[in-house]
Amino acid sequence: MNFDLLIRNASIVDGSGAPRFNGDIGIRGDRIDRIGDLAASSGEVEIDLAGRIAAPGFIDAHTHDDRLMLSGPDMAPKVSQGVTTVIAGNCGISLAPMPRAIPQPVTPPLNLLDDQGGWFRFPTFAAYVEELRGKPAATNCALLVGHTTLRVAILDDLERPASAAQIVRMRALVSEALEAGAIGVSTGLFYEPAIAAPTEEVIETCRPLKDVDGLYCTHMRDEADGVIDSLTETFRIGREVGVAVVISHLKVVGEANRGRSAEALSFIEKNMATQSICMDCYPYTAGSTVLSADRAASSSRVIVSWSKALPEYAGQDLDAIARKMGVSEEEAIRRLLPAGGIYFRLDESDVQRILRHGKTMIGSDGLPHDASPHPRLWGAFPRVLGHYCRELGLFSLETSVHKMTGLTARNFGLRDRGVVKEGAYADLTLFDADKVDEAATYAAPIAPARGIDAVIVNGAVVWRDGRPTGARPGRVLARLT
Ligand code: ZN
Ligand code: CU
Repeated sequence: MNFDLLIRNASIVDGSGAPRFNGDIGIRGDRIDRIGDLAASSGEVEIDLAGRIAAPGFIDAHTHDDRLMLSGPDMAPKVSQGVTTVIAGNCGISLAPMPRAIPQPVTPPLNLLDDQGGWFRFPTFAAYVEELRGKPAATNCALLVGHTTLRVAILDDLERPASAAQIVRMRALVSEALEAGAIGVSTGLFYEPAIAAPTEEVIETCRPLKDVDGLYCTHMRDEADGVIDSLTETFRIGREVGVAVVISHLKVVGEANRGRSAEALSFIEKNMATQSICMDCYPYTAGSTVLSADRAASSSRVIVSWSKALPEYAGQDLDAIARKMGVSEEEAIRRLLPAGGIYFRLDESDVQRILRHGKTMIGSDGLPHDASPHPRLWGAFPRVLGHYCRELGLFSLETSVHKMTGLTARNFGLRDRGVVKEGAYADLTLFDADKVDEAATYAAPIAPARGIDAVIVNGAVVWRDGRPTGARPGRVLARLT
């Protein structure tokens, strides 16, 4: 038999969590055609893995890649670590729709996607999807529409709840987005432009999700002292709208809340008995978002990831910048704004407890447009495989892979993805389990992972020998449950 692509001598970790097995993988077109002993067959292109791992392509459960897919379609930060599908539009922030000229200056945190505003140029969600389809990226994507984007599009005063009439308009934009292919709505109730939104505003805006079984994904209002109240609010929204919820980057923030991941997880488990809930996590004790004095005050260390006012300070520690300027940290922040920060304010044992939980997916939460980004942008997945799986033994390789593939595909409704089986899409990551690791660090955050041999999306090789191949076979995926 002849295949388009034949992967020989693979140790197959199939994404289900089942033990690995040896075999060859024959690919025809965009699908896995055969798995087994294919010694008698040949391939147009052949890759001999000599016992190294073939796994489903990783699905990044939490990204802000809405614009990167258009402005950096090789998707190097993602495919270099084995990611073949990204969930974009998280934390209330989506690039579309923007039915009016985006107010200037771009409201944080929307400026994480583009601080100039020119990319917020899609009046409808359909226009954005059409551009993604016309100029595909190297990875697949599934898209969320952001509640904060809708607020910025419709409200003139973000410090107030939306009026009944404004909710009707936001709801119409949600319907349009879902029709155009979005799989859910995200909120960022934690962030300034959405804090004034009461729970009822979110519920009423999200109503159209019910008919299409869309997802409600949330960067919760409070991940610190009020984490249980925020979980309660999230579950209420899921129940009242009648849809599954995704808790984005589950964490417990701040010194005073150390250890409370146990309480949060048991509260989540209790509620899982009566409604559909899942969560993702990034494998680091530092988070990253727009720079603010509040967030800096609750962190043990802050690195400035970008500054529009003073770009030369990107990559430096805030306390060192303040010393150089001869001012307080608050004053330094004022001078740097608009800017981004990397905040060290999570406890390692909480991060590990959340990562270890059987229902936790891996998401990078990488910020692709930061000058000196958090290393999770390039390193989240290999860090789980290298540091947490191989070095610390937090879980098996099969479980690690499941958390980034099969589990994620099931939760997001990405049919025939996230598994290596005959008939599934040929999204594959080929890697060396002994070598795979992050190369990105806080000091040098832009670096491709080690140990990734090749990455395949819809049957096309997109990354090989440490560089992008130029192939851009990515598709906009629907949610099919
Ligand atoms: Zn977030
Ligand atoms: Cu995020």
